[in-house]
Amino acid sequence: MTIALITGASRGIGKATALLLAQQGMRVVVNYHRDRQAAQTVVEEITRAGGEAIALQADVSDEQQVVAMFTTIDQSWGPVNVLVNNAGILSTQCRVENLTAERINRVLSTNVTGYFLCCREAVKRMSTEHGGSGGAIVNVSSVAARLGSPGEYVDYAASKGAVDTLTIGLSLEVAAQGIRVNGVRPGFIYTDMHASGGEPGRVDRVAPAIPMRRGGQPEEVAQAIAWLVSDNASYVTGSFIDLAGGK
Ligand SMILES: NC(=O)c1ccc[n+]([C@@H]2O[C@H](COP(=O)([O-])OP(=O)(O)OC[C@H]3O[C@@H](n4cnc5c(N)ncnc54)[C@H](OP(=O)(O)O)[C@@H]3O)[C@@H](O)[C@H]2O)c1
Repeated sequence: MTIALITGASRGIGKATALLLAQQGMRVVVNYHRDRQAAQTVVEEITRAGGEAIALQADVSDEQQVVAMFTTIDQSWGPVNVLVNNAGILSTQCRVENLTAERINRVLSTNVTGYFLCCREAVKRMSTEHGGSGGAIVNVSSVAARLGSPGEYVDYAASKGAVDTLTIGLSLEVAAQGIRVNGVRPGFIYTDMHASGGEPGRVDRVAPAIPMRRGGQPEEVAQAIAWLVSDNASYVTGSFIDLAGGK
């Protein structure tokens, strides 16, 4: 049975992805950082529907915690076949001239270092060169990588630019080792993330400027992720799907 690790799956896009992959028959690891109760609720929702899931706490920016999480999965179910790097953060909206090193490093350590560490541990287990049976990785980036998020969070946008470069480079490194690496670039999705930027109603504010005139739902992003990790996307690697209503 396929074992899928979704980082940051206690809510938002990660939760929608965990529910969908479980519905499609995968064993799902619901990673979370702080909100154990929310992660447990996702696990219960999956098990009630007849699926299999466990919740594992780990701060993805912490190398030891990431290694421990992958080891726990090895011991519980076996090596992961699917990794969805989704856990991401942003901070209060501000201009570059007001950014601090502490904030920049905090955003980069979760959004970039965290993605690298989880990719590293996944590749070690999936690569046919290491005796693995292959796998699929999806990195959740953002349209911010090409829009830049001026006046809001250029640090966050830059972290997503790094995620796109990681996706391209790693996809080429492991293409002959049975691992596909792709990215999704959502934009303006109704989740709690906008509250941490200081504007819970951000999606509705920007909706009139989106070509489709609406924000997106986490489930719409999950569908793209599920396709990219599925065998239906067996010849797709180093590719990106934008989910931003045409923006
Ligand atoms: N929402 C959008 O409009 C949008 C647009 C483009 C891209 N994205 C990207 O989509 C991804 C998911 O965003 P979302 O909107 O669903 O976010 P969200 O609702 O704020 O959820 C974030 C998730 O990440 C987890 N998390 C945060 N820091 C973590 C860490 N250090 N280690 C492990 N888990 C951590 C949180 O866990 P706890 O609950 O335990 O804290 C939570 O499960 C992010 O990468 C984001 O950049 C979102």
